[in-house]
Amino acid sequence: MKGIILAGGNGTRLRPLTLVTNKHLLPVYNKPMIYYPLETLTAMGLKDILIVSGREHAGHFLHLLGSGKDFGVRLSYEVQEEAGGIAEALGLAEDFTDGGKLAVILGDNIFEGHQQIIKAAKDFAAQEKGAKIMLKEVLDAERFGVAEVSGGKIIGIEEKPKHPKSNLIITGLYFYDKHVFDIIRTLRPSARGELEITDVNNAYIAEGIMTFEIVTGEWTDAGTFESLLKASNLVAKRKASQS
Ligand code: DAU
Repeated sequence: MKGIILAGGNGTRLRPLTLVTNKHLLPVYNKPMIYYPLETLTAMGLKDILIVSGREHAGHFLHLLGSGKDFGVRLSYEVQEEAGGIAEALGLAEDFTDGGKLAVILGDNIFEGHQQIIKAAKDFAAQEKGAKIMLKEVLDAERFGVAEVSGGKIIGIEEKPKHPKSNLIITGLYFYDKHVFDIIRTLRPSARGELEITDVNNAYIAEGIMTFEIVTGEWTDAGTFESLLKASNLVAKRKASQS
């Protein structure tokens, strides 16, 4: 299985912090944000990782992370010319994945504790086909993709609904088989002009080949001022508990 970190987008919700740099290079406590998703993928034992970023800051990622040698992995880079959505960014990874399975993580997602994720990756490696997503119970579900679960099965996802049907949201860690690229080719831009990862996941759900797990450890995104602060606090708390 290969890994992909999606680190494109404009980071508009973090302006002015993102006026001259990329969101994923901002600090989360004592490291640049992108280190955390990279550590999540390396914890799974993945050795081949692609970073997709926007054109303007692609060189900065290369400067920061280089070949991946310091992390014990081989890094590749791909440029997303415009912020056309998460699914569009993922579509750029088709040649890199070479027909194999993939673990995809959003560059602003911070997972604390990796045991459950390592197991989920193993389970997906053994899953015959389809996809797997990681859900999390939150208080502000309307900010995310929200899952509707019935009878132990996920039956649909709504992206940023005004009235969420549950408090279970879709985190930015996804496992897919190569079929994901066929699905992406069928997508049309949403009302906000993006190819939506939620449409990809709903296509897998409709085919009955989506599995899921609920994350029990701490998780946050870091794409708003509140969540960026929460991310730093999560990491600081863990450091304090370890010392
Ligand atoms: O964090 C989990 C949430 O991420 C999910 O619950 C939502 O279903 C999913 O749509 C996404 O929501 P956001 O509104 O937080 O996505 P955002 O536009 O902030 O993009 C998240 C990351 O995806 C960003 O840090 C980098 C990557 N991205 C995004 C876009 C729009 C790209 O690589 N290229 C893009 O064009």
